[in-house]
Amino acid sequence: MRKIIVLNQKGGVGKTTTVANLGACLVELGRRVLLVDVDPQANLSLHFGHDMQRDEPSLYSLLRDEHSLEEVIRPTTVDGLRIIPSSPDMAGVSVEFAGRSDRLFVLRKVLQQVPTDLDYIVMDSPPSLGLLTVNAMCAAQEVFIPLQTEFFALQGVGKLLRTVRLVSQQANKPLRITGVIASMYDSRTCLAQEILSDIRKHFGSRVFKTLVRKNIRLAEAPGFGRPITQYDETCNGTADYRALAAEVLAMEAPAAQPWQPARAQALQTPASGPQTQEPEPQARTPETHRPGPEHEHRILRPFNGVDNVGPREQRFQNRSQGPGRPDERGGDAQCSAAASS
Ligand SMILES: Nc1ncnc2c1ncn2[C@@H]1O[C@H](COP(=O)(O)OP(=O)(O)O)[C@@H](O)[C@H]1O
Ligand SMILES: [Mg+2]
Repeated sequence: MRKIIVLNQKGGVGKTTTVANLGACLVELGRRVLLVDVDPQANLSLHFGHDMQRDEPSLYSLLRDEHSLEEVIRPTTVDGLRIIPSSPDMAGVSVEFAGRSDRLFVLRKVLQQVPTDLDYIVMDSPPSLGLLTVNAMCAAQEVFIPLQTEFFALQGVGKLLRTVRLVSQQANKPLRITGVIASMYDSRTCLAQEILSDIRKHFGSRVFKTLVRKNIRLAEAPGFGRPITQYDETCNGTADYRALAAEVLAMEAPAAQPWQPARAQALQTPASGPQTQEPEPQARTPETHRPGPEHEHRILRPFNGVDNVGPREQRFQNRSQGPGRPDERGGDAQCSAAASS
């Protein structure tokens, strides 16, 4: 069973969206998945239509031993995808559990009781590095970090890496960063391409090849209590999360994936020994952010396996046939034009 925490102390980077839709896509690929909403804001729970009231069975009452695992696990609209919902009471956990000697391991302990026939536990985390987040880090083996491909993407990542390292050294040795997800990618902007280069420079092969593009359908789906696959099967969001899930699955059999040796190695690394020191990423600053040759980057087809970022001629042809949704159009033309001007 793989236990993954989707982690970034910044809000709005795509953690919840990733947990919900990656989970649904893993189920499509035949895996049994349990999602755990560790965020008191309960966005993941709401995404699946669970608006928990105080005193209802939730992760909070599970952590307090008031309800059993069977009582708190809820179904979703996807067969095979279940969730332990959060509740507003979770906000008090940090204070409530502060005096407990096992305060870092309360979540790990309750998740040890989950049925062994599950393939994945995927945890959504709050936008902080507080006690709840550390509990989720102690219950996980793998960390996926979503990074928004925008100017401040790498700001704060140093602190995030230090925290993962600390937890790995002192509380949960197997914990490793095994995936970095470039989220809300907009191929039409030069900046997104530059930030993506920075992310790849720092994290190397741990960056998933799949880029999760900006797609308004992803923002709409939670309002319907469904993952993107059930909301709009044909949109980019569905294609991207399906591609991401396929990559995540491919990590299960590293030997069969010679094109991802570093990531496979991270998974195979024995649980002993402290994590090696990682250099901290250099965030772009206004001083270092200068238009450079990266402006000439072009996104080559196929894009996440979707054939909508074609040659320039084809894109112009498509545009002359009428407007599409901006986020559904291929488009590095503006960037290339900017570079050549
Ligand atoms: N790829 C995307 N394209 C467009 N909107 C997105 C995308 N990913 C997330 N969003 C939207 O951005 C907002 C923040 O995303 P969310 O997953 O809640 O971030 P976090 O959990 O890190 O705070 C939400 O409104 C969500 O619907
Ligand atoms: Mg969230």
